[in-house]
Amino acid sequence: TLILGIGELTTNAPEALGVDPVDPSTGSGESDPTGLIRDAALLLDGGRVVWAGPERAAAAGVEETLGRAPDRVVGVEGRAVVPGFVDSHSHLVFAGDRSAEFEARMAGRPYAAGGIRTTVAATRATSDDELRANLRRHVDQALAQGTTTLETKSGYGLSVADEERSVRLAAEVTDEVTFLGAHVVPPEFAGRAGGADDYVDLVVGDMLAACAPHARWVDVFCETDAFTPEQSRRVLAAGAAAGLGVRVHANQLGPGEGVRLAVDLGAAAVDHCTHLSDDDVAALAGSWAGSDGDAQGTVATLLPGVEFSTRQPYPDARRLLDAGAVVALASDCNPGSSYTSSMPLMVALAVREMGMTVAEAVWAATAGGARALRRDDVGHLAPGARADVVVLDAPSRTHLAYRPGVPLVHAVWHGGREVVH
Ligand code: NIG
Ligand code: FE
Repeated sequence: TLILGIGELTTNAPEALGVDPVDPSTGSGESDPTGLIRDAALLLDGGRVVWAGPERAAAAGVEETLGRAPDRVVGVEGRAVVPGFVDSHSHLVFAGDRSAEFEARMAGRPYAAGGIRTTVAATRATSDDELRANLRRHVDQALAQGTTTLETKSGYGLSVADEERSVRLAAEVTDEVTFLGAHVVPPEFAGRAGGADDYVDLVVGDMLAACAPHARWVDVFCETDAFTPEQSRRVLAAGAAAGLGVRVHANQLGPGEGVRLAVDLGAAAVDHCTHLSDDDVAALAGSWAGSDGDAQGTVATLLPGVEFSTRQPYPDARRLLDAGAVVALASDCNPGSSYTSSMPLMVALAVREMGMTVAEAVWAATAGGARALRRDDVGHLAPGARADVVVLDAPSRTHLAYRPGVPLVHAVWHGGREVVH
């Protein structure tokens, strides 16, 4: 497929490929440091991007890379194109909702992690088929909003059987499955001496053994109302020993040691990062120090849907970016703290409320998410990338922030297949 008439193409190519922003070989000088090309064209073949560049160079690009006429030519009439969003943090295996809790919160009651147990009870009581249908509905909603790579996790089962079922169902819809058995201490362990440590024994023992075959990542909620840094370290170390990559929920509800623990353990990402000390910021930035394009530091993943839904102050994105940290944006879609799967909304919040530029926010919602998942095949549209393409019904990506709440996703290609049009 050849896509012509792109008003503005965000490739993220310089960051993703480590190439010079103005590539002398194209002689165009039309790329900026975020890989923005005006009046562009994009060639997809075999589920991959094979060529991207200025439209006037498209004929030569097609000839050189494909050597024949494309099967299909689509004109997008000056619309903007961005890489498919990479939502690196969601909790979509659950049943029920918590709209009553939301209403109470809007009337002044603060958010508390204890609400997670409401969803645990509902999830345990639900059949596989219903959970699967709920999960698929949420994934489809995300795709319709331009999310073509989605991480999702367990964490509303909290027994061996219910966690195993959660990661197994999640693996039906994505390769990016996270085992979050250590979300909170379940009611049958809570409220008795040593209950939390006993539960951690179960998580690192039978539960991890049952879940690891279905998961790529291990995660823990390292927070005062959930797991201590010591308990968190046990969970993450056991997960890593079982072959899982490490990611962490930390510093959401207050300051703590979670961010530094994550950096210490070489986590791919630490998520929330709402309450950070200077040491936390330095540790996050330092994890990328001396890096080239292949470096594997710890991404700070900001989840502004949470602050929006819980009426808390937003995380300080500017402070992280100015210090040299790598920032991603994700939805955290879950029925408690952020019941939205809209990555365009995350971009809008980041720009309007968190001091990020449009370019930074779009990068964080695409290439940043890819780094948080340690993926180099998604989050950008340079040759070789998976053909995950979002056409916006707007002349520029700025409209994602400028027109919040408007359904701007005009078309989506996922792995080269047109799935939304
Ligand atoms: O990422 N912080 C912990 N877990 C979720 C909230 C889950 C819930 O409230 O159900 C989060 O915000
Ligand atoms: Fe979360």
